[in-house]
Amino acid sequence: MKPVDWSSLFGQGAERIQASTIRELLKLTQRPGILSFAGGLPAPELFPKEEAAEAAAKLLRERGEVALQYGPTEGYAPLRAFVGAWLGVDPEEVLITTGSQQALDLLGKVFLEEGSPVLLEAPSYLGAIQAFRAYGPRFLTVPTGEEGPDLEALREALLRERPRFLYLIPSFQNPASGLMPLAKRQKLLELVTEAGVVVVEDDAYRELYFGERRLPSLFELARSAGYEGVIYLSSFSKILAPGLRVAFAVAPKEALKKLVQAKQGVDLHTPTLNQMLVLELLKEGLPARLERVRRVYREKAQAMLEALDSAMPQGVRYTRPQGGMFVWMELPEGVSSEELFQKAIAEGVAFVPGGPFFANGGGENTLRLSYATMDRARIQEGVKRLARALESLLPLKAR
Ligand SMILES: Cc1ncc(COP(=O)(O)O)c(C=O)c1O
Repeated sequence: MKPVDWSSLFGQGAERIQASTIRELLKLTQRPGILSFAGGLPAPELFPKEEAAEAAAKLLRERGEVALQYGPTEGYAPLRAFVGAWLGVDPEEVLITTGSQQALDLLGKVFLEEGSPVLLEAPSYLGAIQAFRAYGPRFLTVPTGEEGPDLEALREALLRERPRFLYLIPSFQNPASGLMPLAKRQKLLELVTEAGVVVVEDDAYRELYFGERRLPSLFELARSAGYEGVIYLSSFSKILAPGLRVAFAVAPKEALKKLVQAKQGVDLHTPTLNQMLVLELLKEGLPARLERVRRVYREKAQAMLEALDSAMPQGVRYTRPQGGMFVWMELPEGVSSEELFQKAIAEGVAFVPGGPFFANGGGENTLRLSYATMDRARIQEGVKRLARALESLLPLKAR
């Protein structure tokens, strides 16, 4: 076969998309016998398999001419209406996306270009960093923790520069598992409203709270305070099934129109059958489903924390998640989580080293543990293995 010099043909955007070292590392987690805290996958026992099978068959049989036809880019109207009613917004402001991941890419397309500043937390969601990076922006970062981003650092950053938007995950942050308290949400909104900066709020884990109730989103708070500059993203991935790839963005009409135009060029629309199926599954017993999802993750988180509390040596710090799927861990300064990763694989357990979650570098001593796909027994065993891997790495004084 005559070869083609592919790399000379790739555009600038392609060059910015690098194979991440993390993907290479994560391949190791697929080895047989490895207990993996690495993936960000939802718990498969929560997937509505039977209900989905029945509903899909019925939809195809009875409404196949709609389910199998092209549909509007904005989304299947009854699903937009459902989301509108659920969130208390005008359905005209709702765009159904092919996963929130697509919304992140569309935001990059619409708002970012070479060199444009975009502000995010350090650490932040790797998928967002990757999606934005393809457009060549300049990442500005503010440290974040169990109570969300450092507001003083954020204020200073906003005084220096006006980012195209500020990307935040206020509830059960991926990867740092933080939950921004209500008062802090309000303060943050004052800051951004005054600066007139747009916030992209990624609320992928909105329903996965372990406490009594959900905190109001930045979006809700902004709307009640009369500020329209919050674009809201959430998804059915964590409450139904990620493989359906159905999520939504809510934005004021002018911004939404641009996102719709961008989506047209990407996939015309999110698969109609999947949108109809999501709606069918939501119509039946959503509150009961959400209760169950929250209970399952709460129990897994508890099991993880009990195991960590009894096995982790001194000097290792970790978050106590109030929702979501992750525990974020900090090793003593100077101890590398990538080095720990190699030792952990040898012990038969995996996690994600934290470095790649920092858009501008850093975080070498951090890591993310997901408890979502494991049961109590495997969580306990995995943590024991992790503790063994840690033993050889920790400085004596930290043990
Ligand atoms: C913070 C955050 N945003 C977005 C996504 C992507 O979700 P979706 O399955 O809707 O594309 C994830 C998935 O892990 C996530 O953690």
